[in-house]
Amino acid sequence: MPKPQIQILVCVNERAPDARKPSCDPRGDLEVYRRFKDGVRARGIRDHVMVVRTGCLKHCSRGITVNIWPPNLWYARVTLDDVDEILDRSVLAEEEIERLAMPDIPWE
Ligand code: FES
Repeated sequence: MPKPQIQILVCVNERAPDARKPSCDPRGDLEVYRRFKDGVRARGIRDHVMVVRTGCLKHCSRGITVNIWPPNLWYARVTLDDVDEILDRSVLAEEEIERLAMPDIPWE
């Protein structure tokens, strides 16, 4: 596999139900991660796009948190229904999807 040119970072962090902060896991993060993997495979772009499961991306109250790098787009409250649009518009066309854009808030 050649060096990836784009990474899709998907937070799959899990916290205990009584933790002080929420986490992305109860919102279905692994399903979103797998949908990204399947979408990359279906588009034939596995040779330059890598999907990565990560720990906390520091926007826990707005998860599922996803980062597309480059061009460094941050998305909030990503669901399964958003994955194809992110792949087509943000990964393939480097376009920001405004409705998903993480607000400019302090990192948690
Ligand atoms: S737990 Fe997902 S951003 Fe913190």
